[in-house]
Amino acid sequence: MRITIIGCGSIGSKLAKAADEMNEVKRIYLMDIRKDVAEGVASKLKKAIVVQSVEEELYHCDLVIEAATQAAAREVLPAVVSRGVDVMIMSVGSLVDDAFREAVFEKARVSEAKVFIPTGALCGTDGLRSASGEGLDEVELITTKGPKSLADVQYLVDKGIDVADIRERTVVYSGTAREAVSIFPKNINVAATVSLLGIGFDRTKVTIVLDPEIKDNSHELRLKGKFGEMVCHTYNHPEPDNPKTSHLATLSAISALKRIVRNEWFGI
Ligand SMILES: NC(=O)c1ccc[n+]([C@@H]2O[C@H](COP(=O)([O-])OP(=O)(O)OC[C@H]3O[C@@H](n4cnc5c(N)ncnc54)[C@H](O)[C@@H]3O)[C@@H](O)[C@H]2O)c1
Repeated sequence: MRITIIGCGSIGSKLAKAADEMNEVKRIYLMDIRKDVAEGVASKLKKAIVVQSVEEELYHCDLVIEAATQAAAREVLPAVVSRGVDVMIMSVGSLVDDAFREAVFEKARVSEAKVFIPTGALCGTDGLRSASGEGLDEVELITTKGPKSLADVQYLVDKGIDVADIRERTVVYSGTAREAVSIFPKNINVAATVSLLGIGFDRTKVTIVLDPEIKDNSHELRLKGKFGEMVCHTYNHPEPDNPKTSHLATLSAISALKRIVRNEWFGI
């Protein structure tokens, strides 16, 4: 299999390293708006080369992995799936736009491209997916982070919240997943994954808490439905090179790639 990785940052670089060790992966095309970053990653790998444009590589690529930004996802996804090439999406928040998401999924249906969305930094998505088959009454995600992780969020600045002043556990957002994903595009991709698997962006509730005492970000996923109730708590160590990203998100991307290249589907 030949794969293209868009975005060679925290997730993309580690995914590329893991892919380099997978026998099933024969070639890795790396693309980053910062060419020096892509070249730095490629220089340490056996199977990787740096490319300038994803579209050119689609002729000889089996799977494109987006690990860059929501903007990058919006730019490349339509072209990739139109060409019938499978895609794995890490910037899941890009799918909050209904018209864009439906267009991408429709193009993928027509071309028979597969769309893969790893579970990311969250556990419990297996139960959510199964339970949603029979109707869910409530889905709520409560995310707790250290104040610094939301230091650059304009929404908090506009609300007069200076995260440096937070001394105790404080709820800084409560609302729909749709709004949360738009306000915190780099911080709450899991809310988009939960929405897609469950009851959609408008009915999924999201609460974001800042807590100066915690070391690990946590996600609490709460469901109620005909199946019963589920509460699933994940405590995530951050990636040292990007504290906004949880290490589990990287591991999830690597594990998803292994399943795809080996065509092994346990616990689906
Ligand atoms: N699904 C999840 O649970 C989950 C968890 C963590 C992060 N994410 C998302 O995954 C994505 C990658 O995360 P990360 O921690 O590796 O980020 P990062 O900032 O460490 O790396 C992103 C890389 O993408 C590059 N880039 C930016 N725009 C680009 C473009 N248009 N084309 C090509 N390259 C571009 C940057 O130069 C950078 O090297 C982010 O959108 C992040 O929000 C998802």
